[in-house]
Amino acid sequence: MAALTGLKAGLTNYGDPDFALFLRKAFIKGAGYSDDALDRRVVGIADTRSGYNPCHANMPALLEAVQRGVMLAGALPISFPTISLHESFAYPTSMFLRNLMAMDTEEMVRAAPMDAVVLIGGCDKTVPAQLMGAISADVPAIQLVVGPMVTGSHRGTRVGACTDCRGYWARYRAGEIDLEEIAAVGNELVPSAGTCGVMGTASTMACITEALGIAPLGSACPPANGSQRLRVAEMTGKLAATGIPRPSEVLSRKSFENAITVLLAIGGSTNAVVHLLAIAGRVAGLNLTLDDFDIIGRRTPLLVDLKPSGSAYMEDFYRAGGVPTLLNTLRPLLHLDALTITGQTLGAALEAFKPFPQDIVRPLSDPLYPAAALVVLRGNLAPLGAILKASAMMSHLKSHKGRACVFTSADDMLARIDDPNLDVDKDSILVLQNIGPVGHPGMPEAGYTPIPKKLAQAGVRDMLRISDGRMSGTASGAVVLHVAPEAAVGGPLGAVRDGDMIHVDVEARRLHLDVEEDEIARRLEEWKTHVKGRGRARPKRGYKALYDQRVLQADRGADFDFLTAEGR
Ligand code: FES
Repeated sequence: MAALTGLKAGLTNYGDPDFALFLRKAFIKGAGYSDDALDRRVVGIADTRSGYNPCHANMPALLEAVQRGVMLAGALPISFPTISLHESFAYPTSMFLRNLMAMDTEEMVRAAPMDAVVLIGGCDKTVPAQLMGAISADVPAIQLVVGPMVTGSHRGTRVGACTDCRGYWARYRAGEIDLEEIAAVGNELVPSAGTCGVMGTASTMACITEALGIAPLGSACPPANGSQRLRVAEMTGKLAATGIPRPSEVLSRKSFENAITVLLAIGGSTNAVVHLLAIAGRVAGLNLTLDDFDIIGRRTPLLVDLKPSGSAYMEDFYRAGGVPTLLNTLRPLLHLDALTITGQTLGAALEAFKPFPQDIVRPLSDPLYPAAALVVLRGNLAPLGAILKASAMMSHLKSHKGRACVFTSADDMLARIDDPNLDVDKDSILVLQNIGPVGHPGMPEAGYTPIPKKLAQAGVRDMLRISDGRMSGTASGAVVLHVAPEAAVGGPLGAVRDGDMIHVDVEARRLHLDVEEDEIARRLEEWKTHVKGRGRARPKRGYKALYDQRVLQADRGADFDFLTAEGR
């Protein structure tokens, strides 16, 4: 029997399917639809507008353009709202809520009748959440991003969120600029709707979604406020209406390896590692691990000259031809037979994009960074792995031994980091414990521990920092992140004490605590009997309790165990 389509699919159970369809049509006719409209294929559109999400402020225009595309192809568009997450408007962190948005997306896509779905997202956690949900629902799905914002100008200097936010804030902390100037910068950093205009997490996810094959080629980079963005939206709607494959038909190990290659070549956000692991965890039998990132990293050069690893902005990448220019350059390193959303292979789809002279995507022969922009470290301090963006740190720190200066929580760090008596110097290693998936909770982007004020004022611009948390994709520095297992579940990071020697060796991919194994074991035993024995306050109700009980470690993408393809 052919699968039911359009409004006939997924009927509410009243014990009488014909009555259920009659009732459904009667209700939706209340919104003014005709039988002609209701007899067509349905394309659902996930609408993530929110007054709390300025990155998605162009959503109404995008929605209209997608609807136009769907109708041009003769289908019926029906939009529906889901949770929307913005980085600055999500307490305690947007990461804490990513899995909730993924559940919302999955269940709404599954619950409502739709032959295909257009997922409109953009701000950091929204695209991963939508992909995770859509893969689990396995309805034909296509991703549309809201697009990057444009740049502003401060006293003649081009600025954009959010690498420049951090750069100017560091200068303010160091006393180089005053309150008036930092306020003036704040007026220029976000001059339009759209996602952060550098290669932060949102841009990274947009680019690798194209590489995964689940977003149309050429769709990641057009600016949020431009006419090309609207044409991309219209085309996306049209594609969805004419028939697209299911995520399980598009996504394969080859497409994920292509995505990792692009992640490395763009100098993408470290957050994308967690998200890609979570997205891949939703695909049955894929088994993507941190080692895949390191293996692919060793052969992949950094080619795209965008902040924070380089110097340009997303609008420059767009003018340089965007992701298709990069994919064409990366051809020898890609699986060109991987499928894309149009049903074409990646190689065939790329034929439509002819290379032209530009200066943002470097040739393979002249990379910005030769290989391994992002590395996976292991050792007795991170048995399950940790990551480091090697392309965005000062090179003298790549092999470094230093004394630990330990903060036991984000609050402890905030209380003491600027204390003039803090026992720290430029060679110290700042260790921040208990900001992992469970610890904070929600794995905040506090891993980018600020340089202590007294050192910043003395001209120190980078130091080694280690934590079980994350850092913003727009940040840079010698910051070891995602240490797993985290301190809050008894990981060895929790055993580090002030003054311990730590050795970081990027070339050897090593993260080592120079303390006898017996002593580490003794400290962890002490943690079990005293710290755990006293018990951290475990949440008892609501989403927080669910999160606390079910979240996986960073090496598994911090998804919930029961949401992975295999389930619990
Ligand atoms: Fe939304 Fe940066 S805050 S993309």
